[in-house]
Amino acid sequence: MKLITAIIQSHKLDDVKVALADAGVHGITISEANGYGQQRGHTEFYRGVEYVVDLIPKIRVEIVTSDAEMESIVDVIIKSAGTGHIGDGKIWVTTLDMVARVRTGETGIAAI
Ligand SMILES: Nc1ncnc2c1ncn2[C@@H]1O[C@H](COP(=O)(O)OP(=O)(O)OP(=O)(O)O)[C@@H](O)[C@H]1O
Ligand SMILES: [Mg+2]
Repeated sequence: MKLITAIIQSHKLDDVKVALADAGVHGITISEANGYGQQRGHTEFYRGVEYVVDLIPKIRVEIVTSDAEMESIVDVIIKSAGTGHIGDGKIWVTTLDMVARVRTGETGIAAI
């Protein structure tokens, strides 16, 4: 099992949500995140305004999925979150030891 973490631009959240639902993803977690990438100290646009990059607000999307589906989901996020401009976001993937559904006690793939 894999945890996909994607940091995306806030204004792309709706596009990403729709694309993930269309791809059959049935569980996501969304939270606010502040950070910077390789433009720190340079400028980046946020809501049409140019900022010197220190900590820029973005959206974190987390998806727990199977090993088999991970690559296609990453691809869906890249295509739906991208504008071709700096600050479009970053995605990383980690391996999960354990997932459990609280209601049933199911664990592993059955709990996703
Ligand atoms: N190395 C990193 N470690 C942890 N978080 C990161 C890292 N790089 C970027 N992030 C997070 O991802 C967000 C988006 O990064 P961003 O799209 O600016 O990446 P980038 O590598 O600078 O690419 P680009 O040149 O396209 O801007 C950042 O605001 C930050 O929250
Ligand atoms: Mg950047």
